[in-house]
Amino acid sequence: MALLTAAAVVEHTFVVSQMNMRHLCRDTLVTVVNGQLPGPVIDVTEGDSVVIHVVNRSPYSITIHWHGVKQKRNCWADGVPMITQCPISPGNNFTYQFNVDGQEGTLWWHSHVAGLRATLHGALIIRPRQGAASYPFRRPDTEIPIIIGEWWQQTDLVQLDRDLAGGNFNYSPSAATLNGKLGDLHYGCSGAMEEGHVLDVEPGKTYLLRLINAVLVSEYYIKIAGHRFTVVAADGNYVNPYTTDTIAIAPGQTVDALVVADASPGSYYMVAMAAQPTIIVPPFPVTTTRGTVRYRSAGAQQQPLVPVMPDTHDTDTSFYFHGNLTGLQNRQSSSVPTRVDERLLVTLSVGSMCRRQGQSSCARTNAETIIMVNLNNVSFQLPGGATTTSLLEAHYGRGLGAMGLVTLPDRPPVAFNFTDPALVQRGPREAWLEPTTKATTVRRFRHGSVVEVVFQNTAVMQTDSNPMHLHGHDMFVLAQGLGNYDQARDVARYNLVNPPVRNTVLVPSLGWTAIRFVADNPGVWFLHCHYLFHVSVGMATVFIVEDGPTVGTSLPPPPANIPKCDGSQT
Ligand code: C2O
Repeated sequence: MALLTAAAVVEHTFVVSQMNMRHLCRDTLVTVVNGQLPGPVIDVTEGDSVVIHVVNRSPYSITIHWHGVKQKRNCWADGVPMITQCPISPGNNFTYQFNVDGQEGTLWWHSHVAGLRATLHGALIIRPRQGAASYPFRRPDTEIPIIIGEWWQQTDLVQLDRDLAGGNFNYSPSAATLNGKLGDLHYGCSGAMEEGHVLDVEPGKTYLLRLINAVLVSEYYIKIAGHRFTVVAADGNYVNPYTTDTIAIAPGQTVDALVVADASPGSYYMVAMAAQPTIIVPPFPVTTTRGTVRYRSAGAQQQPLVPVMPDTHDTDTSFYFHGNLTGLQNRQSSSVPTRVDERLLVTLSVGSMCRRQGQSSCARTNAETIIMVNLNNVSFQLPGGATTTSLLEAHYGRGLGAMGLVTLPDRPPVAFNFTDPALVQRGPREAWLEPTTKATTVRRFRHGSVVEVVFQNTAVMQTDSNPMHLHGHDMFVLAQGLGNYDQARDVARYNLVNPPVRNTVLVPSLGWTAIRFVADNPGVWFLHCHYLFHVSVGMATVFIVEDGPTVGTSLPPPPANIPKCDGSQT
C-alpha cells in the first residue's frame, strides 16, 4: 500500500552574499546563496507549500525565479524583475510563497537578474506524494541532482549583461562544471588538477540522475563511458522511457535519467561538453568538464575510461534526442487541446538597429549599428527608467496603458527563406531583413485560450538553436523540423497523442518547433530564450493572460511585502 505523506510547509532562508572562491589558481568574487555553489536544494513533496525568505546582502538588486513551477494564480511569486516584481534591492528582504500542486520531478531555481544566475541557482525537486514506489519507472536505489554549470572568472556578471546589451559579444566562460566542480581537464595551483564530481556506485544498483543545465551560453551533451541512460522525465514531466548513450540538454532544461551500474567494476568518466551551432563567429572556446562514476568494488587508482563524445558541431544528435521524446500518459498528464484559438509564427532572429536613438538609417558598421536579437524583428526591452511599478502591478492596477507597450506581431514582417545558408555571412543578402526595433512587446490572451506558437529560427548572421522558456505554463511540443515551417505540410506531422510536455523547448539550429499551450494562468508571463546572450539582447516577450470569469480564475492581489521600485532597477 502506498504511504501518503501529509502536505507540509517547506521553509528556507536564502542569504544572498558575495564570497571568494578559488579555481584555476585564482580567487574570484562570486554571488551565492548561503555560501554554496550550487545553492541549496529545495526538496519537496507534491502538494507542499514552499516559503523562501530571501535576504539580500549582495550589492545587486536581485530576484529569484522558480523555473518550471507553474505558480497557478500566483504570478506574484514568479520572480522576474520589472515583469512580475520590482527587484529586492541590496539590504532588503522578500519572502516568496508558492505551492507545487500537480507537479512532480526535477525543476530548479535561479536569479533572474542578468548573468547572476551563473552562480545563483540550485535544484528544486518535487517528489510524488505517494512516495518513490509510485514512479512510473523502475524505482532507483539512489537519486542524485547533477547541475551543469559554468565558471566565469569575469567577476561582474551584471556588467557582462550590460556589455552584451551594448553589442560586445566577446566573452566566454572559463570552464564548465558538474555540481560546481571543474574536473581534471583543468589545472589549479602548482599543476594540481581541479577536483571533479565523483559518483560512487555499487554494481547492479540503479541511479536516478536529475540533470539540470544551469549554464548561460550552451547546449550540452552528456555521456558516461560504458553506460547507457534511460530518460524518464524532462522539465518535470514524465516521458516514455527512452534509452540512449547521449543526453542533449539546453540551458533551462532538466532531464531525469536512470543509469544502471552494470559495467565491469572500474572507473568511468562522465563528460559534459558544450555543443555549438555549425558556424560560430567569432569562434568560441569549447567548454568540457568531466566527473567520474566509480565502482566501490573496483581497485584503486585505475585511469577512468573516456566516452567518445559527439562532435562539438554535431547538431543532429540534439535534434534526434529531442525528437525521440514522447510524453507519458499517466494520472498527471492532460491531453493536447485540438481546438486552436490563436496562432503565432515567431521568428527567432538577429537584426540591427542604429545606435543613435531615433535614427532610422545608418552605416552597417560596428560604430553606427548595434546587433541585436529579436522576435519577429522586435527586440524586447524591459520597462525601466522612470518606471515605478512592474508590469504585473500595472496590469493588476489597470495601469498598463501608461507603460508604452507594443503588441508582439503575429508573424514576421516579411516572409523569406528563413533558413537560407546564404544569409549567415553578413553581407548585402540579408541587409533588408535586419531592421529591428526595440519595444516592450506583449501579447494578450483571453483566459482559457489555446495558443499555438511556431518558433522559426533563421539563418540571419548565425545558426543558433534557441531554448525558449515560457513562464507559468507547460507547453506541448507537437513537432520540430529542419528548414522552414510549412503549415500545409507540417501539421500532418504533429504529435497530438503523446507529445512531450516541457517548460523550455529547444528550437533546432536552422529549423523550427511547434508548441501548444492553454493560457489558463492569469498574470504576466515572460517568454524568452534561455541563452544569456539572447535574453539580454531582446529575444523575449511577455504573454498576458487575462482573468477568467470567477474569483478562482483571477489573479489575487499582490502580497503585502512585495518590494517597491527604487528607480535603480535597470
Ligand atoms: Cu529559467 Cu525566465 O527563466
